[in-house]
Amino acid sequence: MGTRRTFIKKMSALSMTAQMAKSCIKEPISASSDWQAIADQFFKTEVLNFNTGSAGVMPIPVYKKYVDNVKLLSSYAPYEVLKDFNANIKESMDRLSSFVSATPANLSLVRNTTEGLNALLWGLPLEKGDEIIYTNLGYPYVKNTLELLRKKKGIQAKLVSIDNLDFSDEELVEHFEKAITDKTKLLVVTHITHKTGQIMPVRKICDLGKKYGVEVMLDAAHAIGHIPHSLSEIGCDYYVTSMHKWFSAPLGSGLMYIAVQHLEKLFPSYSYPSSKQGEITKFDYTGTTAFQNKMTLSSVLDFNQSIGIDRKAKRLRELSLYLLNGLKNIKGAYSVVDKDRLAGIVTFSLSIRYYKKLVDALAEYHNIHVKMVLLNKLGHLRISLNIHLMESDIDRLLTALQSEVNTDKY
Ligand SMILES: Cc1ncc(COP(=O)(O)O)c(C=O)c1O
Repeated sequence: MGTRRTFIKKMSALSMTAQMAKSCIKEPISASSDWQAIADQFFKTEVLNFNTGSAGVMPIPVYKKYVDNVKLLSSYAPYEVLKDFNANIKESMDRLSSFVSATPANLSLVRNTTEGLNALLWGLPLEKGDEIIYTNLGYPYVKNTLELLRKKKGIQAKLVSIDNLDFSDEELVEHFEKAITDKTKLLVVTHITHKTGQIMPVRKICDLGKKYGVEVMLDAAHAIGHIPHSLSEIGCDYYVTSMHKWFSAPLGSGLMYIAVQHLEKLFPSYSYPSSKQGEITKFDYTGTTAFQNKMTLSSVLDFNQSIGIDRKAKRLRELSLYLLNGLKNIKGAYSVVDKDRLAGIVTFSLSIRYYKKLVDALAEYHNIHVKMVLLNKLGHLRISLNIHLMESDIDRLLTALQSEVNTDKY
């Protein structure tokens, strides 16, 4: 690497790759050899990673681009490098907005879902006595933020407890409807729940919100790169997703959406030029950040678009169903969730008491990483199935589970 000219050449090459990716989206991949070719684009490790739900990994082409970008930022003055990438980042934002069916003027890059949700919840002009509804299937830090909002601003958090996990869309919407009062200003809903992997009927919940004049904020941490979704169709007011989970972006890559009618009224916690009050860019003034993440987005989009989100979601379900089928042979395995609500996350219980011990044993003796979750205070295993995994990896997990569960250690 050397001169600014090579640098600019690199940029044009990047944007050409983007164009090529757009124009060469292939026919549906169904053969397992094709999925193997995709899995081969990820680093092979001895440890099987079934925890994309916490954080995903970059495929090798994205990783390489990321490392190139880190090198550029370590070779030249970072803000100068960034200046040269601005057109490229703008193009990525355009592509991202098509990916989620929104307009770039409603999207902002944040570090993650936690940051985006907090920026929104603290930025809303809510007053003492106003109510925000949340559920027990939501992420714990949402509840914590609502508790702080209660302490600092007197905003009331109201829990909708979803105890029966085998609910219909209508039953779920009814739960929310019953909880709404004339004080309710906002529903916070998890798009794909982190504990159960259930895909929530977000469009119907947003319709309910509109019926009562209540805004809907989606904690969509798991949504991007996991299932197809269109923000214009869902009609939510706010949405935040973590691109470093299922979308294979570098860690610390989040995306926030604010519907146009709400842009003016929000107040970011950080200062910004007053001329930006009506723009989502008012949330961008957070200081120096991981520029390499933004610079790598074009490569993330190339990778995702070369597969196609419909095909990917179908594949994730295929892997989930494969696991569910295999679980039939494991003593006491029971999946709590209706399989029609699933994509790439499967949660189940076993006839054991010590889940943490099992998770540790899977890591230590079998080189397998899974996540333990608590549902109604009871232990469960959560398995995230992303495209770096194949059926043979699931077989390895099933064999390990079989051998551990058949001991009396748990
Ligand atoms: C439903 C849900 N919301 C929010 C988050 C927070 O995501 P991040 O750490 O990317 O901010 C997570 C993380 O696992 C999650 O599962």
